Amino acid sequence: MAFTFFFRDLDAIELIPDYVLSNIPEKKTIKIWDAGCANGSEIYTILIYLKETLSEEQFKKIKIVASDIDNSNIFKKIIEEGTYKKNQISSVPPDILKKYFVQDIENPDIYIISENLREKVYYQKHDLLSLNAIGHDFDLIICKHVLQHFNNKEQVDVIKMFYKSLTDESFLLCESSQEFPEYLNSHFTRILPERNLYRKIFSVNKKRV
Ligand SMILES: C[S@@+](CC[C@H](N)C(=O)[O-])C[C@H]1O[C@@H](n2cnc3c(N)ncnc32)[C@H](O)[C@@H]1O
Repeated sequence: MAFTFFFRDLDAIELIPDYVLSNIPEKKTIKIWDAGCANGSEIYTILIYLKETLSEEQFKKIKIVASDIDNSNIFKKIIEEGTYKKNQISSVPPDILKKYFVQDIENPDIYIISENLREKVYYQKHDLLSLNAIGHDFDLIICKHVLQHFNNKEQVDVIKMFYKSLTDESFLLCESSQEFPEYLNSHFTRILPERNLYRKIFSVNKKRV
């Protein structure tokens, strides 16, 4: 259930600069919630991609709040320490590996991700089905390969929670294969036909959700 890898769904992550960040108001901090982040490969892929594509000034604004139910209780340590085994970084392009990871001197099987990426992440163990958001005023929620594990009602409830924890001008991004309940149509507008990037419809009376 916690299957993940670096640079997974890059086609979705690539949408963030042009379709999300260019369409939110100027602000000091851009808050992203990575919901169901597993061991953090996804968080660090997003941060590496943004570091590579944004200006220094824009990148400084990015903060990621990440969460997972983490039945194995190991993600917090991995994410905070930014440590990955050699077999976990096989999908990282060599130039990116060289730029953003250092090999542990004591254990050459371990690669540590740079501190300037780690300091942008706040991780919290969290069950999405509790329906209590881990924060508010998010500009973007990324939830990939997670909703598929929930039944239709649970999906609707979780998406309602996302809706409430997003700012008025904000986005929800999922993997391309995720099918959404009809409910979404009145609350989110799909931005691109073949991608699951949705913009919040903020004129919807919040009492309805
Ligand atoms: C297949 S992984 C996807 C990881 C990552 N988002 C990706 O796309 O590579 C699904 C993740 O969802 C998490 N998950 C499943 N049920 C959850 C729940 N109720 N609340 C929070 N996370 C959950 C699992 O622990 C797992 O890490």
